[in-house]
Amino acid sequence: MENFEVINPTRILFGKNQLGRLPQLLRTVNATKIMITYGGGSIIKTGLLDKIKAQLEDFDIVEFSGIEPNPEYTTLMKAVEIAKAEKVDFLLAVGGGSVIDGTKFISGAINYHRDPWDVLTRKQGAVFTSAVPFGTVLTLPATGSEANSGAVISRHELGVKVTMGGPLFFPVFSFCDPTLVATLPKRQLANGITDAFMHTLEQYLTFPSHNLLQEREAEGILSTLIEIKDVINHPEDYRLAANLMHCATHALNGNLRCGVITDWSTHMIGHELTAHFGIDHACTLAIIAPRLCEHKFEDKKEKLTQYGKRVWNLTGDDTTIAKEAIVKTEEFFQSLGIKTRISDYTQEYQGIEAKIKETFEERGWTAMGERQSLTPEDVEEIVLAAI
Ligand code: NZQ
Ligand code: ZN
Repeated sequence: MENFEVINPTRILFGKNQLGRLPQLLRTVNATKIMITYGGGSIIKTGLLDKIKAQLEDFDIVEFSGIEPNPEYTTLMKAVEIAKAEKVDFLLAVGGGSVIDGTKFISGAINYHRDPWDVLTRKQGAVFTSAVPFGTVLTLPATGSEANSGAVISRHELGVKVTMGGPLFFPVFSFCDPTLVATLPKRQLANGITDAFMHTLEQYLTFPSHNLLQEREAEGILSTLIEIKDVINHPEDYRLAANLMHCATHALNGNLRCGVITDWSTHMIGHELTAHFGIDHACTLAIIAPRLCEHKFEDKKEKLTQYGKRVWNLTGDDTTIAKEAIVKTEEFFQSLGIKTRISDYTQEYQGIEAKIKETFEERGWTAMGERQSLTPEDVEEIVLAAI
């Protein structure tokens, strides 16, 4: 088993009817002026914003709305300016991964006195050294952002999507109420299952590890997501919704990576597809993962076989099981209504494989994957195969 160190300070309040705890939690961090951050208005329509405001009568509140899916740098910078001017001392993100990620960025940028873009582009010496504390009310189980310290920020004008994070960016608390899943459109439910599934696979489909517990936990999440996929048709079913939310949080709260080797290449390639074409994050993963597994078949064969046997109950010789496991995975995504080819989303794909290869070269991402053997040339072939 690999050595590991893990810390996750986020308090998770899982279940229904818990918002009454909000004022007390805010007092424990001495919050007085709170900025509620949210997206395009789903929380207004569902009545959630009013319920939250009713809990915050004793606090000063500022609202910032309009954080879009794949949160946009220029939008977030407007929030940073308002938060500075209003002297906000706590942020409350109410939404999915985009709102939570955007809020992580805002929390770091408020007290940063130079250009925050330098931090996102990893300019030498540019780091966020403090963050305004924040909590979340999760409305879309998918990314695990409610329970981790990572974020992904887009800058449309430059066609880039970049990651940030670090120990400063764990939420202080996250309300995870499965009843909020009921209003999600089918597309977002399918995305949520797929994203959580892929977070698990990226921390699992590498080498057979000696961490038997983490192997079984990953397989447990994958099997559960398969079992509850009917949540896309019945999001009001509390049992299904609660299991989706629980799985999504656990898929990326830092637990699965303990003592194992991970491979986040599918995510890194997928982010480029979102940056270029605006394809939903989860869909980019469903496009890339099957082709990446085929491309690196020999490297991943042993683990694909274990996955095929334990998660899909496949039988036969190892090569057949490993190949069938890739087919089953792609069919699973398709059964959720997710298309698995770039050309299903755009006809403007000419040359995309070369562009992504160049981007990986520019960033020095020349040796990725669990064996550091995935080169920009491999990435080019995978993207080409995914068209
Ligand atoms: O903006 P509103 O009006 O709220 O509508 C949202 C949005 O249009 C809607 N929605 C959310 N909750 C709802 C709801 N509609 C009805 N009822 C509800 N309860 O759903 C739409 C999509 O929301 P978004 O937050 O964009 O989705 P998701 O949670 O999938 O987040 C995707 C973003 O997270 C990043 C992705 O790259 C992408 O930018 N990720 C963040 C990660 C992390 N921080 O750990 C890891 C992931 O791998 C991922 O990269
Ligand atoms: Zn993801």
